[in-house]
Amino acid sequence: MNIVILTGAGISAESGIRTFRDEDGLWEGYSVDQVATKLGFGANPELVNRFYNLRRRQLAEVVPNAAHTALVELEEKLGNGFLLITQNVDDLHERAGSHRLIHMHGELLKSRCTWCEIISPCDGDLHATDSCRKCRRDMGMRPDVVWFGETPYELDRIGKALESADIFIAIGTSGIVEPASRFSIKAKVYGAKTIEVNLNETSKTSEFDEIIRGPASETVPALVSRLLQS
Ligand code: APR
Repeated sequence: MNIVILTGAGISAESGIRTFRDEDGLWEGYSVDQVATKLGFGANPELVNRFYNLRRRQLAEVVPNAAHTALVELEEKLGNGFLLITQNVDDLHERAGSHRLIHMHGELLKSRCTWCEIISPCDGDLHATDSCRKCRRDMGMRPDVVWFGETPYELDRIGKALESADIFIAIGTSGIVEPASRFSIKAKVYGAKTIEVNLNETSKTSEFDEIIRGPASETVPALVSRLLQS
């Protein structure tokens, strides 16, 4: 049995991390162009780093919830038959114990130098004036987060996993941002059963074979229990 999971901000919501597009979402108060594009970074690297510094600091105040933990149980049972793809840049899946994990939009706890492209761990604040530890240049340190218009990580590995999935489950994602928004249809074309787990209806709901409505911290453990018994 091959199960591929896609998570979005909704799986971290009950841990206290705001989603992007719900009320009081992360994008409120900021324009995507300002803080989630290369152009925005070039125009004001300090504003961009400030946006992500706030989100990185917030990680110290939150913990994984029962949904993150349930996915670890499923991974432990399925081993190589399990792959977790997250759009989230937080580290809650890792802290819950997930290993077979792809951060397709990068990670808050990593930085990247725009001059030499080196990626390093980052658990503190980043500033435009910081110089790269490798090339020594400043004005180029950014969070290793994939911005709009940039290519997400590990798309080849993701594509292969979707082709061999028996079940594809999207948890807590609005299904708005490509290419993740196309994963359910791709998995379905290759024969997977597709399940949407979300608090609300999304623009993709009609594409799924099964809909599970409710908060992830309740619905995901119940779904995992069902899958482990099947
Ligand atoms: N349980 C389940 N689902 C939830 C919960 C919850 N407790 N709370 C919110 N949701 C759902 C919302 O109904 C919504 O469908 O989570 C989804 C969050 O959607 P978005 O805020 O759009 O987040 P996401 O889908 O992850 O965004 C994708 O967009 O901005 C970019 O790069 C950013 O990775 C992000 C991508």
